[in-house]
Amino acid sequence: MTRYSALKGIQDILPPDIHLWQKVEEVAKDVFSAYGFHELRAPIIESTDIFIRSIGETTDIVEKEMYTFPDKAGRSITLRPEGTAPVVRCYVQNHLYDLPSPQKFFYSGPMFRYERPQKGRFRQFYQIGVEALGTSDPKLDSEILSMLRLFLERLSLKGLSYEINSIGCEKCRPDYKKALLIFFSGRINEFCPDCQRRYEFNPLRILDCKVKECIKLRIGAPKVTDFLCKDCREHFEALLSLLKLLDFPYVINTDMVRGLDYYTSTTFEVTSKHLGAQNAVAAGGRYDRLVEEFGGPPTPAIGFAIGMERIVELLKASDKLEVPAPKVFIATIGAPAEREGLLIAKKLRDKGIWVEIGYAGHSLRSQLRKADRLAAKHVLIIGDDEISSGKVKWKRLLDGKQGEILFHEVHDFFK
Ligand code: HAM
Repeated sequence: MTRYSALKGIQDILPPDIHLWQKVEEVAKDVFSAYGFHELRAPIIESTDIFIRSIGETTDIVEKEMYTFPDKAGRSITLRPEGTAPVVRCYVQNHLYDLPSPQKFFYSGPMFRYERPQKGRFRQFYQIGVEALGTSDPKLDSEILSMLRLFLERLSLKGLSYEINSIGCEKCRPDYKKALLIFFSGRINEFCPDCQRRYEFNPLRILDCKVKECIKLRIGAPKVTDFLCKDCREHFEALLSLLKLLDFPYVINTDMVRGLDYYTSTTFEVTSKHLGAQNAVAAGGRYDRLVEEFGGPPTPAIGFAIGMERIVELLKASDKLEVPAPKVFIATIGAPAEREGLLIAKKLRDKGIWVEIGYAGHSLRSQLRKADRLAAKHVLIIGDDEISSGKVKWKRLLDGKQGEILFHEVHDFFK
């Protein structure tokens, strides 16, 4: 029995998986740079109000899932459950609205939600997110979506669906809420207890409930897109026509309402048919009011976040995991050979070549077995004979080819 283990719903990320994580991060950085996004590193802890104010008091995240605790001075602190609110706080605090618009940022790192852990859902999970602040032009929405698609395509992920919706703004959403309340009023007692609460506080969220009975009961509910005001409708239509121009494969999903209250107009989710219940690999949308609510000037904005664990899961299923391997393993027999081996290893490493060596007390056989387990490309063997002849034996493990080279030629040989 191990004495300690990681907290429930929180996992270690180890080699070889870490190589996939790094690959995903590199691709993201590459793709986002082409669209002019720069990295922003916001803190992991923030004042709790920031999340209550932005995500919304009656959302699952704020009601049940935040890691909130008092600090030593009694201030309420929260481990960030998402990255948008911290970026907006940072944007307003640092007057980034004074810089040319739109300002475009990306970030990556851990987020924390006290959710019931299951496949694809963790209490500490990682997101790569982007936020673009400063214009309501639907062209920006189309760029954001194209950028997300390019990222997913660069990773060769298949079986994805891009679901898009517009959930209106503070002008049109009250009418839609009213229509929903009227539709549900006669049958709300038949819904799950969560939906009955949502009916009181956040009726749109009923559309997002995964309980089978609730899904049946909401058939025929009014669609948000039928209630959009002129501005929201025109924005949505303009976005859809740009997506057609860009040959972007979207589907409209009017039930997709998102679990965070800051959204306005455009919302989207990318789902995979190769994941289980937790099938959203990325999600986002517009939050045109949030900067103002945080005390900044009116600043329309849009962003998304990608769930790293889910992306890595898909890559593991679709890719042959390429485990990096040392280029050279140096096996030695006897003290003089060990010293020579260490010198050769240093010279090669100085040139950036990955070298592994055998350690004290290991027989030649066990050193060769280790080279094999590490999948080293080449083995160098040095014993007393090699020391006296000044030549080292080499073997290429892939095809068994072997030969001898002078000590001082080793570096050129591997270059
Ligand atoms: P979100 O939908 O809450 O949006 O999360 C985005 C993605 O993070 C999800 O689609 C999923 O892949 C991943 N995710 C969420 N919760 C978990 C979890 N418990 N375990 C594993 N993965 C998870 C946001 O967070 C918004 N801030 C996105 C955004 C940015 N909107 C505008 N800008």
